[in-house]
Amino acid sequence: MQTLRRKDILGLEEMSAEEITLILDTARSMREIMQRKIKKVPTLRGRSVLNLFYEPSTRTKASFELAQKYMSADSVSVAGTSSSLVKGETLKDTVRNVEVMGIECVIMRHPVSGSTAYLARNIEASVINAGDGMHEHPTQGLLDMFTMLDKKGRLENLKVVIVGDIRHSRVARSNIWGLQKMGAKVTVSGPRTLMPVDLQVFGVEYTPFLEEAVEEADVIMALRLQKERQEGGLFPSLREYSELYGLTTNRIAGAKEDVLIMHPGPMNRGVEISSEIADSPRSVILEQVTSGVAVRMALLYLLLGGTKEE
Ligand code: CP
Repeated sequence: MQTLRRKDILGLEEMSAEEITLILDTARSMREIMQRKIKKVPTLRGRSVLNLFYEPSTRTKASFELAQKYMSADSVSVAGTSSSLVKGETLKDTVRNVEVMGIECVIMRHPVSGSTAYLARNIEASVINAGDGMHEHPTQGLLDMFTMLDKKGRLENLKVVIVGDIRHSRVARSNIWGLQKMGAKVTVSGPRTLMPVDLQVFGVEYTPFLEEAVEEADVIMALRLQKERQEGGLFPSLREYSELYGLTTNRIAGAKEDVLIMHPGPMNRGVEISSEIADSPRSVILEQVTSGVAVRMALLYLLLGGTKEE
Protein backbone atom coordinates (compact mmCIF):
# COMPACT_ATOMS: atom_id res chain seq x y z
CA MET A 1 0.00 0.00 0.00
CA GLN A 2 1.46 3.37 -1.08
CA THR A 3 -1.33 5.85 -0.30
CA LEU A 4 -4.04 6.24 2.31
CA ARG A 5 -7.34 5.99 0.47
CA ARG A 6 -9.52 7.62 3.10
CA LYS A 7 -10.66 11.18 3.79
CA ASP A 8 -10.57 11.02 7.59
CA ILE A 9 -8.78 9.41 10.55
CA LEU A 10 -11.57 8.73 13.04
CA GLY A 11 -10.45 5.56 14.80
CA LEU A 12 -8.29 2.44 14.60
CA GLU A 13 -11.29 0.09 14.83
CA GLU A 14 -12.11 0.91 11.20
CA MET A 15 -8.51 0.84 9.97
CA SER A 16 -6.74 -2.14 8.35
CA ALA A 17 -3.34 -3.56 9.31
CA GLU A 18 -2.06 -2.41 5.88
CA GLU A 19 -3.14 1.18 6.57
CA ILE A 20 -1.55 1.14 10.03
CA THR A 21 1.68 -0.26 8.53
CA LEU A 22 1.73 2.51 5.89
CA ILE A 23 1.31 5.19 8.58
CA LEU A 24 4.05 3.69 10.81
CA ASP A 25 6.44 3.33 7.85
CA THR A 26 5.80 6.94 6.82
CA ALA A 27 6.30 8.11 10.43
CA ARG A 28 9.77 6.53 10.34
CA SER A 29 10.69 8.81 7.41
CA MET A 30 9.21 11.78 9.24
CA ARG A 31 11.33 11.07 12.30
CA GLU A 32 14.38 11.38 10.10
CA ILE A 33 13.28 14.96 9.29
CA MET A 34 12.86 15.66 13.02
CA GLN A 35 16.45 14.58 13.66
CA ARG A 36 17.83 17.19 11.22
CA LYS A 37 19.25 20.47 12.49
CA ILE A 38 16.80 22.40 10.29
CA LYS A 39 13.47 20.63 10.86
CA LYS A 40 11.61 22.11 7.93
CA VAL A 41 10.44 20.66 4.62
CA PRO A 42 8.19 22.34 2.02
CA THR A 43 5.93 19.28 1.66
CA LEU A 44 2.66 20.94 2.78
CA ARG A 45 3.40 24.46 1.60
CA GLY A 46 0.16 26.19 0.64
CA ARG A 47 -2.02 23.63 2.48
CA SER A 48 -4.30 24.86 5.30
CA VAL A 49 -5.08 23.12 8.58
CA LEU A 50 -7.37 23.98 11.52
CA ASN A 51 -6.71 22.75 15.08
CA LEU A 52 -10.00 22.81 16.99
CA PHE A 53 -9.71 21.78 20.65
CA TYR A 54 -12.80 21.68 22.87
CA GLU A 55 -10.89 19.95 25.70
CA PRO A 56 -7.51 20.71 27.30
CA SER A 57 -4.40 19.25 25.67
CA THR A 58 -0.66 19.70 25.91
CA ARG A 59 0.94 16.83 23.95
CA THR A 60 -1.58 16.30 21.16
CA LYS A 61 -2.11 19.98 20.36
CA ALA A 62 1.56 20.94 20.56
CA SER A 63 2.70 17.98 18.46
CA PHE A 64 0.08 18.60 15.75
CA GLU A 65 1.09 22.28 15.63
CA LEU A 66 4.78 21.37 15.45
CA ALA A 67 4.09 18.78 12.74
CA GLN A 68 2.32 21.47 10.69
CA LYS A 69 5.23 23.90 11.14
CA TYR A 70 7.88 21.28 10.26
CA MET A 71 5.97 20.55 7.03
CA SER A 72 5.34 24.23 6.15
CA ALA A 73 1.53 24.02 6.30
CA ASP A 74 -0.51 27.14 7.11
CA SER A 75 -2.45 26.50 10.30
CA VAL A 76 -4.79 28.18 12.75
CA SER A 77 -5.70 26.97 16.23
CA VAL A 78 -9.05 27.68 17.89
CA ALA A 79 -9.87 26.75 21.49
CA GLY A 80 -13.51 25.82 22.07
CA THR A 81 -13.77 28.15 25.05
CA SER A 82 -12.66 31.18 23.02
CA SER A 83 -14.67 30.38 19.87
CA SER A 84 -18.16 31.55 18.88
CA LEU A 85 -19.42 28.24 20.27
CA VAL A 86 -19.91 30.05 23.58
CA LYS A 87 -22.30 32.43 21.74
CA GLY A 88 -24.41 29.48 20.64
CA GLU A 89 -22.91 28.59 17.24
CA THR A 90 -23.11 24.89 16.37
CA LEU A 91 -20.04 22.75 15.67
CA LYS A 92 -21.20 22.24 12.06
CA ASP A 93 -21.61 25.99 11.47
CA THR A 94 -18.27 26.73 13.11
CA VAL A 95 -16.39 24.36 10.86
CA ARG A 96 -18.33 25.23 7.67
CA ASN A 97 -17.40 28.88 8.22
CA VAL A 98 -13.75 27.99 8.61
CA GLU A 99 -13.91 25.62 5.64
CA VAL A 100 -14.95 28.39 3.24
CA MET A 101 -11.75 30.20 4.23
CA GLY A 102 -9.88 27.33 2.53
CA ILE A 103 -9.20 24.84 5.35
CA GLU A 104 -8.43 21.35 3.95
CA CYS A 105 -7.93 19.40 7.19
CA VAL A 106 -9.53 19.79 10.63
CA ILE A 107 -7.96 18.28 13.74
CA MET A 108 -10.55 18.11 16.49
CA ARG A 109 -10.68 17.11 20.16
CA HIS A 110 -14.17 17.08 21.63
CA PRO A 111 -15.76 15.66 24.83
CA VAL A 112 -18.58 13.91 22.94
CA SER A 113 -17.99 10.40 21.52
CA GLY A 114 -18.81 10.38 17.80
CA SER A 115 -18.42 14.14 17.35
CA THR A 116 -15.50 13.78 14.92
CA ALA A 117 -17.47 11.26 12.81
CA TYR A 118 -20.41 13.69 12.73
CA LEU A 119 -18.10 16.48 11.61
CA ALA A 120 -16.47 14.30 8.94
CA ARG A 121 -19.88 13.49 7.45
CA ASN A 122 -20.77 17.16 7.21
CA ILE A 123 -17.68 18.79 5.70
CA GLU A 124 -15.50 18.15 2.67
CA ALA A 125 -12.23 18.76 4.52
CA SER A 126 -10.38 15.82 6.06
CA VAL A 127 -10.96 15.28 9.78
CA ILE A 128 -8.42 13.83 12.23
CA ASN A 129 -9.77 12.70 15.58
CA ALA A 130 -7.56 14.11 18.36
CA GLY A 131 -9.74 12.38 20.99
CA ASP A 132 -13.56 12.18 21.07
CA GLY A 133 -15.15 11.47 24.45
CA MET A 134 -14.63 7.86 25.51
CA HIS A 135 -14.57 6.62 21.89
CA GLU A 136 -11.05 6.77 20.40
CA HIS A 137 -7.75 8.65 20.33
CA PRO A 138 -6.32 7.10 17.16
CA THR A 139 -3.19 9.25 16.88
CA GLN A 140 -2.25 8.23 20.46
CA GLY A 141 -2.77 4.55 19.56
CA LEU A 142 -0.56 4.99 16.48
CA LEU A 143 2.22 6.77 18.36
CA ASP A 144 2.14 4.10 21.07
CA MET A 145 2.49 1.36 18.43
CA PHE A 146 5.27 3.35 16.72
CA THR A 147 7.16 3.50 20.05
CA MET A 148 6.68 -0.23 20.74
CA LEU A 149 7.81 -1.14 17.21
CA ASP A 150 10.83 1.11 17.53
CA LYS A 151 11.89 -0.34 20.89
CA LYS A 152 10.92 -3.99 20.42
CA GLY A 153 11.28 -4.38 16.65
CA ARG A 154 7.88 -6.05 16.24
CA LEU A 155 4.22 -5.84 17.16
CA GLU A 156 3.34 -9.42 16.17
CA ASN A 157 2.88 -11.53 19.34
CA LEU A 158 3.98 -8.66 21.58
CA LYS A 159 2.35 -9.05 25.02
CA VAL A 160 0.87 -5.72 26.11
CA VAL A 161 -0.77 -5.19 29.51
CA ILE A 162 -2.96 -2.08 29.81
CA VAL A 163 -3.79 -1.22 33.39
CA GLY A 164 -6.32 1.16 34.87
CA ASP A 165 -9.44 2.99 33.81
CA ILE A 166 -10.22 1.11 30.57
CA ARG A 167 -13.90 2.04 30.82
CA HIS A 168 -13.39 5.77 30.31
CA SER A 169 -10.25 5.60 28.18
CA ARG A 170 -10.23 6.46 24.47
CA VAL A 171 -6.48 5.73 24.56
CA ALA A 172 -7.16 2.14 25.69
CA ARG A 173 -9.76 1.64 22.96
CA SER A 174 -7.47 2.84 20.17
CA ASN A 175 -4.57 0.75 21.47
CA ILE A 176 -6.73 -2.35 21.85
CA TRP A 177 -8.09 -2.14 18.27
CA GLY A 178 -4.78 -1.17 16.70
CA LEU A 179 -2.51 -3.58 18.57
CA GLN A 180 -4.73 -6.60 17.92
CA LYS A 181 -4.89 -5.77 14.19
CA MET A 182 -1.09 -5.80 14.19
CA GLY A 183 -0.97 -9.22 15.89
CA ALA A 184 -0.20 -8.18 19.48
CA LYS A 185 -1.81 -9.88 22.50
CA VAL A 186 -3.56 -7.45 24.83
CA THR A 187 -4.45 -8.06 28.49
CA VAL A 188 -6.31 -5.44 30.52
CA SER A 189 -6.16 -5.14 34.31
CA GLY A 190 -7.82 -2.96 36.91
CA PRO A 191 -10.91 -2.95 39.10
CA ARG A 192 -13.91 -4.63 37.39
CA THR A 193 -15.81 -1.38 37.91
CA LEU A 194 -13.33 0.42 35.63
CA MET A 195 -13.81 -2.10 32.79
CA PRO A 196 -16.32 -1.46 29.97
CA VAL A 197 -19.58 -3.37 30.52
CA ASP A 198 -19.15 -4.83 26.99
CA LEU A 199 -15.50 -5.84 27.54
CA GLN A 200 -15.99 -9.11 25.62
CA VAL A 201 -16.46 -7.26 22.30
CA PHE A 202 -12.85 -6.03 22.46
CA GLY A 203 -11.40 -9.58 22.34
CA VAL A 204 -8.86 -8.97 25.13
CA GLU A 205 -7.96 -10.98 28.23
CA TYR A 206 -8.97 -9.51 31.60
CA THR A 207 -7.40 -10.11 34.98
CA PRO A 208 -7.88 -8.25 38.25
CA PHE A 209 -4.44 -9.55 39.35
CA LEU A 210 -1.88 -7.11 38.00
CA GLU A 211 1.16 -8.82 39.55
CA GLU A 212 0.38 -12.01 37.55
CA ALA A 213 -0.32 -10.13 34.30
CA VAL A 214 3.00 -8.27 34.31
CA GLU A 215 5.12 -11.45 34.53
CA GLU A 216 4.81 -12.23 30.81
CA ALA A 217 4.44 -8.64 29.59
CA ASP A 218 6.69 -7.02 26.98
CA VAL A 219 4.92 -3.70 27.56
CA ILE A 220 3.02 -2.33 30.59
CA MET A 221 0.89 0.71 29.86
CA ALA A 222 -0.63 2.63 32.78
CA LEU A 223 -3.62 4.83 32.04
CA ARG A 224 -4.57 8.09 33.67
CA LEU A 225 -7.45 7.85 36.15
CA GLN A 226 -10.00 10.02 34.34
CA LYS A 227 -11.62 11.79 37.26
CA GLU A 228 -13.46 14.15 34.89
CA ARG A 229 -15.30 11.26 33.19
CA GLN A 230 -16.16 9.20 36.26
CA GLU A 231 -19.59 9.30 37.82
CA GLY A 232 -18.08 8.52 41.22
CA GLY A 233 -18.09 5.46 43.46
CA LEU A 234 -16.27 3.24 40.95
CA PHE A 235 -13.43 2.55 43.40
CA PRO A 236 -13.18 3.30 47.13
CA SER A 237 -10.40 5.91 47.12
CA LEU A 238 -7.33 7.02 45.17
CA ARG A 239 -5.15 5.52 47.92
CA GLU A 240 -6.79 2.11 47.62
CA TYR A 241 -6.67 2.23 43.82
CA SER A 242 -3.00 3.07 44.00
CA GLU A 243 -2.29 0.27 46.49
CA LEU A 244 -3.76 -2.34 44.14
CA TYR A 245 -3.07 -1.01 40.63
CA GLY A 246 -0.50 1.78 40.82
CA LEU A 247 2.73 0.87 39.01
CA THR A 248 5.37 0.70 41.72
CA THR A 249 8.71 -1.08 41.98
CA ASN A 250 7.17 -3.75 44.22
CA ARG A 251 4.11 -4.33 42.04
CA ILE A 252 6.12 -4.98 38.87
CA ALA A 253 8.99 -6.80 40.61
CA GLY A 254 8.09 -9.97 38.66
CA ALA A 255 8.19 -8.24 35.25
CA LYS A 256 10.87 -8.92 32.62
CA GLU A 257 14.07 -6.89 32.85
CA ASP A 258 13.45 -5.30 29.42
CA VAL A 259 9.74 -4.56 29.86
CA LEU A 260 8.66 -1.17 28.44
CA ILE A 261 6.74 1.15 30.76
CA MET A 262 4.33 3.45 28.94
CA HIS A 263 1.79 6.12 29.87
CA PRO A 264 -0.06 8.44 27.45
CA GLY A 265 0.12 11.42 29.81
CA PRO A 266 -0.79 13.48 31.65
CA MET A 267 0.35 11.35 34.61
CA ASN A 268 -1.06 11.41 38.12
CA ARG A 269 2.24 10.64 39.83
CA GLY A 270 1.72 8.57 42.96
CA VAL A 271 -1.71 7.38 41.80
CA GLU A 272 -1.49 5.21 38.65
CA ILE A 273 2.32 5.31 38.50
CA SER A 274 5.11 6.08 40.97
CA SER A 275 7.80 8.61 40.09
CA GLU A 276 10.40 5.87 40.55
CA ILE A 277 8.81 3.85 37.71
CA ALA A 278 7.88 6.82 35.51
CA ASP A 279 11.46 8.09 35.56
CA SER A 280 13.16 4.67 35.42
CA PRO A 281 15.33 3.46 32.49
CA ARG A 282 12.51 1.12 31.43
CA SER A 283 10.12 4.05 30.94
CA VAL A 284 9.60 5.26 27.35
CA ILE A 285 7.03 7.89 28.31
CA LEU A 286 8.97 10.79 26.81
CA GLU A 287 9.82 8.75 23.69
CA GLN A 288 6.05 8.35 23.20
CA VAL A 289 5.75 12.14 23.03
CA THR A 290 8.53 12.38 20.43
CA SER A 291 6.85 9.62 18.39
CA GLY A 292 3.68 11.72 18.45
CA VAL A 293 5.23 14.43 16.27
CA ALA A 294 6.46 11.91 13.66
CA VAL A 295 3.14 10.07 13.54
CA ARG A 296 1.16 13.31 13.19
CA MET A 297 3.48 14.51 10.42
CA ALA A 298 2.85 11.20 8.63
CA LEU A 299 -0.92 11.50 8.97
CA LEU A 300 -1.04 15.07 7.66
CA TYR A 301 1.22 14.11 4.78
CA LEU A 302 -0.77 11.02 3.80
CA LEU A 303 -4.21 12.62 4.22
CA LEU A 304 -3.24 15.65 2.16
CA GLY A 305 -2.24 13.47 -0.76
CA GLY A 306 1.30 12.24 -0.13
CA THR A 307 2.49 8.75 -1.11
CA LYS A 308 4.99 6.45 0.60
CA GLU A 309 7.29 6.63 -2.47
CA GLU A 310 7.56 10.45 -2.35
N1 CP B 1 -1.97 11.90 25.63
C1 CP B 1 -2.66 13.05 25.41
O1 CP B 1 -3.67 13.06 24.65
O2 CP B 1 -2.18 14.14 26.06
P1 CP B 1 -2.81 15.59 26.01
O3 CP B 1 -4.17 15.52 26.66
O4 CP B 1 -1.86 16.48 26.70
O5 CP B 1 -2.99 15.96 24.54
